[in-house]
Amino acid sequence: MKIIEANGAQIPALGYGTYTLEGATCIDMVAKAIDAGYRHIDTARMYGNETEVGEGIRRSGIARNELFVTTKIWWTDIGEGNLQDSAEAAIEALGIGPVDLLLIHWPNADVDLEESIDALNDTIDRGLTRHIGVANFTSAMLDEAAAMSSAPLVCNQVEYHPLLSQDAIHDACRRHDMAMIAYSPVGQGGVLLGHPAVLAIAERHGRSAAQVVLRWEIQQEGVGAIPRTKNPARLAENLDIFDFDLDEEEFQQLAGLSKRRQRLVDPSFAPNWDRV
Ligand SMILES: NC(=O)c1ccc[n+]([C@@H]2O[C@H](COP(=O)([O-])OP(=O)(O)OC[C@H]3O[C@@H](n4cnc5c(N)ncnc54)[C@H](OP(=O)(O)O)[C@@H]3O)[C@@H](O)[C@H]2O)c1
Repeated sequence: MKIIEANGAQIPALGYGTYTLEGATCIDMVAKAIDAGYRHIDTARMYGNETEVGEGIRRSGIARNELFVTTKIWWTDIGEGNLQDSAEAAIEALGIGPVDLLLIHWPNADVDLEESIDALNDTIDRGLTRHIGVANFTSAMLDEAAAMSSAPLVCNQVEYHPLLSQDAIHDACRRHDMAMIAYSPVGQGGVLLGHPAVLAIAERHGRSAAQVVLRWEIQQEGVGAIPRTKNPARLAENLDIFDFDLDEEEFQQLAGLSKRRQRLVDPSFAPNWDRV
C-alpha cells in the first residue's frame, strides 16, 4: 500500500468510501473492507452512518493505530462552537476515540473562513482528531486556509477522476505539502468505466476499468482515492492496484479525457470552482 506523507500525516493512498452505506450493510462492509486490507476509512456527519462505521471497525478486531479514519463536518456547522459540537458528536458516534483526520466537508460563504479554521484547529487541542483538513476547497481558498491554520492542513478532498481535471488544486496541494484525496474516483461507476480509452488500457494490462482509473489517480504524487462499493468482490478488486504501472502515454491518454469536464458532484452551495 502506498502511504501519502502529508504535513506529518501518513495517509494510506487507497481508502474505503462509505457514502450511502447504512445499517447492517454498513457494519458488514466496513468490517469486510478492513479484512480485505483497507487501512483508511472515509465517513462524514452527513452520511448518518458513523455509528455503523465505528461498529464495523470494532467488529474487524483491528488495532486502532493500524487504521486511518476520516470524518467530516457538514458545511452548515462550521462556525465557532457549532464545529466543535459537531466534532464531539462525531467522535461519540464512532466510538473509537479521536479520528485521524477531521475535515470541513464544504466551505460556507456565510461563515468567515478564519473562524472555521480556528474552530477546526481547536478540535486538535480538544483531542478529537490527530489531523485536520478540508474538502471541496478551490485552490485560492486552500492558499488562504493554509496560511491561516496553526496546525498544518493535511488534505483537500475533491472530486477527481480522468473526466475532471484538478490540476490547479493538485498544484495547490503540492505547494502546501497536502494530500489530494479523490472522491467519486471511479466516476460513480458511470460512463467513465465504459470509455473506450479506459477499456483499451484495461485490456492491455489484464485489469478492470476501475483498477486502471484508480491506478491513474494514486500513481500521481500526493494523490489518494476512496472508492465506494457495496459489492464485497469489488472491495478486493479496487484495492488490487499496487502491482502495475501505467506508462507515460497511457497516463496522458487518460488525462486527456478531462476535456469533457464532467463534474458529478455540484450542489447549489458549491464554491466557484477553479477553471479547468
Ligand atoms: N467530500 C465530499 O464532498 C464527497 C462527495 C462525494 C463522495 N465522497 C466520498 O467519496 C466516496 C466515493 O465517492 P462516490 O461514492 O461518490 O463514487 P465512486 O466511489 O466513484 O463510485 C461508487 C459507485 O461505483 C460503483 N463501483 C465501485 N467499484 C466499482 C468497480 N470496481 N467496478 C464497477 N463499479 C464500481 C459502485 O457500485 P457497487 O456498490 O454496486 O459496487 C457505486 O455505485 C464516497 O463514498 C464518500 O466517502 C466525498
